[in-house]
Amino acid sequence: MPAKCDIAFSLNGVKRELTVPAGMSALEMLRDRLGLTGTKYGCGEGECGACTILVDGSTVNSCLMFAADCDGRELVTIEGVAVSAAGERLRDAFVANGAVQCGFCTPGLMVQASHLIERHPGADEATIRRGIEGNLCRCTGYRKIIDAVAAAAKEKSHE
Ligand code: FES
Ligand code: FES
Repeated sequence: MPAKCDIAFSLNGVKRELTVPAGMSALEMLRDRLGLTGTKYGCGEGECGACTILVDGSTVNSCLMFAADCDGRELVTIEGVAVSAAGERLRDAFVANGAVQCGFCTPGLMVQASHLIERHPGADEATIRRGIEGNLCRCTGYRKIIDAVAAAAKEKSHE
């Protein structure tokens, strides 16, 4: 593999071109090269979900993805989700349900939840628990997060 790679991709709907080191992760590219610090670095090992982004419509732990592999892909980060109708619905539900304490897990959870609700509008609690099981929260005990996602899912199902 060459030491550096030229890549072109879509990021939150905008075309981007970059030259990245071969070993750089997508998370490092987003945070350190592009200044999109909403995506969090928790474990760096695929365990916590704080770095969750959407790649071609699927959720991905960006700490485990090489930046070079973003070439030709469509990336959406929390900054993109936040300005969507789904993101606004989730933000309001998180606030209304008191689902944010330190907030470190919140961006990854909102990306994961937006993806879940898109596929399962009106999702029940079991579906929500399964959908967010890869996103760890050290503060809330999950009850309020589940209530918030359920409220956003219910709202989506009434659209
Ligand atoms: S930072 Fe990527 S899963 Fe924890
Ligand atoms: S609110 Fe602190 S980690 Fe979830």
